[in-house]
Amino acid sequence: MRQAIRFAVPLVAVLGLLAWGASILVSTTSRRWFDEDVDLRARLAVRGTREGLTGHWRQGDRDALRRILESITRDERIMAAAVCGPALATVAATPEYPERLGCEDIGAEARAGLGEGGAGAASWHHDVLLRGGRVRVNALPILAEAGPPGLVILVHDMSFADRREATTTWFMVLAFALMAVLAALMTVLAARVSWLSWTEELRRFLRGTPPRREFHPVLGDVRDLIARLAAESRAAGGPGAWTPERLRRTLRERLHGERVIVVANREPYIHDRDRDGGVRVLHPASGLVTAIEPVMRACSGVWIAHGSGSADRDAADGRGRLRVPPGEESYVLRRVWLSPEEERGYYYGFANEGLWPLCHIAHARPIFRNEDWVHYRDVNGRFAAAVAEEAEGPDPIILMQDYHFSLAPRLVRDRLPRATILTFWHTPWPNAEQFGICPWHKEILQGMLGSSIVGFHTQQHCNNFLAAVDQYLEARIDREHRAVIQHGRTTLVRAYPISIEWPNSWALKAPPVAECRASVLAELGLPPDALLGVGVDRLDYTKGIEERLLSIERLLERFPQLVGRFTFAELAAPSRTAIPRYQELDRNVVRLEERINARFSRGTYRPVILRREHHEPPAVFRYYRAADVCYVSSLHDGMNLVAKEFVAARDDERGALVLSCFTGAARELTEALIVNPYDLEQASSALASALAMSAEEQRARMSSMRLLLSEFNVYRWAGQILVDAARLRQHERLSGRLAEHVRQVDGAPA
Ligand code: G6P
Repeated sequence: MRQAIRFAVPLVAVLGLLAWGASILVSTTSRRWFDEDVDLRARLAVRGTREGLTGHWRQGDRDALRRILESITRDERIMAAAVCGPALATVAATPEYPERLGCEDIGAEARAGLGEGGAGAASWHHDVLLRGGRVRVNALPILAEAGPPGLVILVHDMSFADRREATTTWFMVLAFALMAVLAALMTVLAARVSWLSWTEELRRFLRGTPPRREFHPVLGDVRDLIARLAAESRAAGGPGAWTPERLRRTLRERLHGERVIVVANREPYIHDRDRDGGVRVLHPASGLVTAIEPVMRACSGVWIAHGSGSADRDAADGRGRLRVPPGEESYVLRRVWLSPEEERGYYYGFANEGLWPLCHIAHARPIFRNEDWVHYRDVNGRFAAAVAEEAEGPDPIILMQDYHFSLAPRLVRDRLPRATILTFWHTPWPNAEQFGICPWHKEILQGMLGSSIVGFHTQQHCNNFLAAVDQYLEARIDREHRAVIQHGRTTLVRAYPISIEWPNSWALKAPPVAECRASVLAELGLPPDALLGVGVDRLDYTKGIEERLLSIERLLERFPQLVGRFTFAELAAPSRTAIPRYQELDRNVVRLEERINARFSRGTYRPVILRREHHEPPAVFRYYRAADVCYVSSLHDGMNLVAKEFVAARDDERGALVLSCFTGAARELTEALIVNPYDLEQASSALASALAMSAEEQRARMSSMRLLLSEFNVYRWAGQILVDAARLRQHERLSGRLAEHVRQVDGAPA
């Protein structure tokens, strides 16, 4: 269709030009015809009266001459007539004969013209403008026996010719315009018909009816294309949105199972004893849990985690097992108990004082202690043993999560050689040089290469991992297939940007936005027209909370009109509190809050409200829905699911997201206001823009981000990993069978 329009437009232009040329041609031709016609009429009129004219002339009967002239002017086109004597004096004239065309003037001109035309010239003519209209003056000679002839002058009204000429030109242009439109319509119609016949051919082809021969070569290409697309789509598990049901189906059909074993340090439900002896179930603040928990609900299976809650043992059976989620039991939580020394060495020490700062560019020095490493190795072994206990067959599907378990994939592989081990690293992976800081970097890489697939959020992190393998291990890197091959075993290294569940159950359960806003503002003691910003994090130095508060301070310095109107509520969940660096952060954040509030408080107004406590998801979603702006200012973050949760919470398509460029999420949520959190000028400007953003712009940005998340949800994330795993498993089976076959052939007697 677009092609047809592209063709029709120049066609109309060409026809327009033709119309213009044709109208000029038609007008000059018709004018010539009219002129010739008038001359002929003049000659005929004079010829018919010549005898009478000469007779009366000779007799000197002027009245009779005038009567003859008046009879000539009865012709509707002849306005006036006169007879000029040889001396160019007016002998007779009709009453309306124009003075301007008197014999003295026009006669001399005419006689000269007749002379030039040669002796035989029958008439002379000349056009003049008279009272705004064109008239033609014709002079015809009479009485030429001797001396100069007398002249009969006829004055013709030519306005009719001009009118006809204009009408003809107008019709001409109209006709061409109509032709142009018709031609354009025909072109578009023809294109459409041919497209229809195309699509009809395509449909015939898809129905299996043989298409006409002229379509064969092109349809051959179409067939190839369809086959390729179908193969790609099959590989990805088919088209359409990813849902829990689809994920289950993928697991069943592609991996012959419904159960997965998740290994993650943090458990999805923590049973905690409160001060008055009661037990409450907490949802921990963890991006990992946010993402993996809906996957587990969809797939069922076992989640093996550290039992860290003070009432965890009471809630589990003798083997540390219980069914969760409470009230909607759909999978098993298997708790692994750690001694305080183990927890200190493995979790606080090696994982969070060593690997965590090693993987993040956040200027915290990694600390590696030998005793921590020993605990880390042992705890990885204990989790690997728990996996072997939970596995129901020789080839379970294991989702190994994060930096707490870099050694476990190899340890599980040793126990279950046919297991499908899918390891996902939720934090960034440092460059090879930085990674080499860890004294056990080789052991960690070897541990991870026990996996079938190692996944990261971004390709950059995959590249860093491959570079580290290249630099520190004896292994072949297959860049084409993005894989590492070692001792004949393949580990795929792929990017799978993680996401959240969609539709989001917390957002669906939340009260209406207006209600959330009213309750949050009341809770914070703010007036209904207050401008509210929110931040939601664990109190972690990678989250840029200090930088966030500094940019709020800068915002209030630069835009004093916001003082008294804008409040920022920071919901900061205490995290890893046994680690000195986290304690230092906690002190710094409190100090900053106090300083900013001291500078800008007015009466009861405080610009920063810091809530250093655990918040359950319903409270967090209420804040998301109440806010005008959410600021995620991580200094370095694998993905950051707070940004995605904020978008999920805003089904009203309002609110603005200010997002650090150092998060994985910034690569996907490009409609957020992306900032460098270290750049306080830029960040405060972005906050100001977010607060001033029109409702339409908020809506446009938010709806586009929501559309993206509805498509790229966590079911898709898990589905893609499982589909890749299925392909790898099939490939390994085939190559295993081939190797067996070769062995048999080699060993067979000749
Ligand atoms: C990050 C890590 C997760 C961890 C979460 C919370 O997102 O990648 O593995 O669960 O932080 O930290 P915590 O130490 O409280 O589990």
